[in-house]
Amino acid sequence: MKPAVRKVRVAIAGCGKIARTRHAPEYKANPQAEIIGFYDYNREHAEELAEIYGGKVYDSYEELLADETVEAVSICSPNFLHSTHAIQAMRAGKDVLCEKPMAADVAEAQKMIDVQKETGRILMLGHNQRFVRTHIRAKELLEAGAIGDILSLRTNFKHNGPEAWSIESSNKTWFFSKSKAGFGVLGDLGSHKLDLVRYLMGDEIESIFAMVTTLDKRDAEGNLIDLDDNAFCTFKMRNGLPGTMSVSWTNYGVEDNSTVIYGTKGTMKIFASELDDIVVDLNDGTSARHHVSPMSTNTNQLSSGIIDAFIRSIVNGTEPPVTGLDGRNTLACLEAATKSSDLGRWVQVDLG
Ligand SMILES: NC(=O)c1ccc[n+]([C@@H]2O[C@H](COP(=O)([O-])OP(=O)(O)OC[C@H]3O[C@@H](n4cnc5c(N)ncnc54)[C@H](O)[C@@H]3O)[C@@H](O)[C@H]2O)c1
Repeated sequence: MKPAVRKVRVAIAGCGKIARTRHAPEYKANPQAEIIGFYDYNREHAEELAEIYGGKVYDSYEELLADETVEAVSICSPNFLHSTHAIQAMRAGKDVLCEKPMAADVAEAQKMIDVQKETGRILMLGHNQRFVRTHIRAKELLEAGAIGDILSLRTNFKHNGPEAWSIESSNKTWFFSKSKAGFGVLGDLGSHKLDLVRYLMGDEIESIFAMVTTLDKRDAEGNLIDLDDNAFCTFKMRNGLPGTMSVSWTNYGVEDNSTVIYGTKGTMKIFASELDDIVVDLNDGTSARHHVSPMSTNTNQLSSGIIDAFIRSIVNGTEPPVTGLDGRNTLACLEAATKSSDLGRWVQVDLG
């Protein structure tokens, strides 16, 4: 007789777009996961997901946490709730997968880490760019010396903004509210790319000089939002390597999610060509082209791998591949960029 498959019993808090496009379908597709229920302060959002995936609808977050059958919680609520929801869940004995950005500020993120240590629960962050197979392949190629020694890099993430993406689907979205989102595009797209840079380079970003600005996005009243819709950052890694990151919610053309890495023997272009996922142009005039996996876009969501990694960590009792410290140090970069833009000078990243 085959041994029974261990199924991790999961609940989802916040039943908007990311819960629908990623968390719920990826738990459903994972043979080692079982969805137990949903909570959203807009009950209809939770009911819609329960209708599709089965499971309970909780009347409150406290009711979800009191459910002893729930072992793990995916936190897909707006940013301002991440730390409270994550801390409550870990204290209730649940493992946590928390969406990005980790928290409203580094102090809150540190508290999450402290509670993780105190409770021994798993705390994983939803930085999914490091799970994209093309990025994994790029890291392998870099480590094998495909472009020699790395000299510098630039990374972009630019699309047309979150107002069409969010389940609210209007300029009233919480993504445009400072008290609910904390950061604008810097937190939304910048947190992805800063984590990717840390992953690809295997190093921390040490200091940042940035212009964080608002060019075009307007709230429901027609006023420019009081959050950034563009951020232009120059940074230095701990090993001295320089790079730039540009993120935007006002690219009304084709989404740009590219990274280019410059080395002593050549240049690696990732998601920078329409035809190839990775192009390595060498100084001798030859090129190598790699077809690995496409990049998810807002309109073409692909399986992220993040849910499978979370479940694997729980089943095997291993440290998750994106830790609280990863989330915290990425958040520290967001804070440093914001401060740099305000002060007009380089700012050290408050690394943990
Ligand atoms: N990893 C990624 O690639 C990625 C992509 C998009 C969004 N996100 C993150 O996921 C989180 C959710 O974003 P989204 O795109 O799903 O937003 P969304 O606007 O589509 O959905 C947010 C949901 O949260 C619910 N909500 C609001 N207040 C709540 C509360 N007090 N308690 C419980 N639920 C509440 C809303 O009713 C809505 O259903 C954000 O932190 C965002 O940054 C991550």
